Amino acid sequence: MFFDTHTHLDDDRFCDDRDSVIEAVYASGVTLAVNIGADLESSLSSVELSKQYDFIYASVGVHPHDAEDMQEADVEALRTLSANPKVVAIGEIGLDYHYENSSRDLQKKWFRRQIELARELDLPFIVHDRDAHGDTMEIIKSVGYNRGVFHCYSGSVEMAKELVNMGFYISFAGPLTFSNGKKTREVALSVPVERILIETDSPYLSPEPHRGQRNDSSKVRFVGEKLAEIKGLSIEETARITYENGKNFFGIQE
Ligand code: NI
Repeated sequence: MFFDTHTHLDDDRFCDDRDSVIEAVYASGVTLAVNIGADLESSLSSVELSKQYDFIYASVGVHPHDAEDMQEADVEALRTLSANPKVVAIGEIGLDYHYENSSRDLQKKWFRRQIELARELDLPFIVHDRDAHGDTMEIIKSVGYNRGVFHCYSGSVEMAKELVNMGFYISFAGPLTFSNGKKTREVALSVPVERILIETDSPYLSPEPHRGQRNDSSKVRFVGEKLAEIKGLSIEETARITYENGKNFFGIQE
């Protein structure tokens, strides 16, 4: 059994076959998934999906791409949505200096505000950090609420060690399997396995041997297989450990 801790099954790229994809995901052995909100609309559709499927949970949050237009009223809307019992995290939130679709000041403001919301609600949070490691570390240190996961981790071994010491989890997606993913595999080797989550970030980042195709949660097993190889564990053991890690992180009882 696998747990895909970060997926976007509400994405438009599933509009023609969503139900059959989700049924195939479950049949493939992925028996837990968290569908991730990235703006108010996808936060709402994540909650709707979680109501429709027992094995799907939801997170709610506003991605840095949309920080430019965020308002305090949106924080209230997220708070209201999070009252649903299947909402298990705030996210994805963070900083994206690669695309920089929103100004850095507003990205930082709403990242901080949403970590504070997670703390108020006693929920973990999911960090998107792209080419913004320094400012991301500065903000999480200044808030001091460390119940978070760095999704699709792209930082250094040193930063991962610091994060693990602070209490964070590190999550790996398709790039762990890519031919140019050597640095990511070094991080995976260095992080204790009990602090690692696996994810697809579908429909993006399809792992090898499916790179470039539409991704879906059933492909989390390829990330698990690569992690097993790196850690010298069996695939069964790797699946079991990362499944338990996900349940512990999100506070899911089954
Ligand atoms: Ni994502």
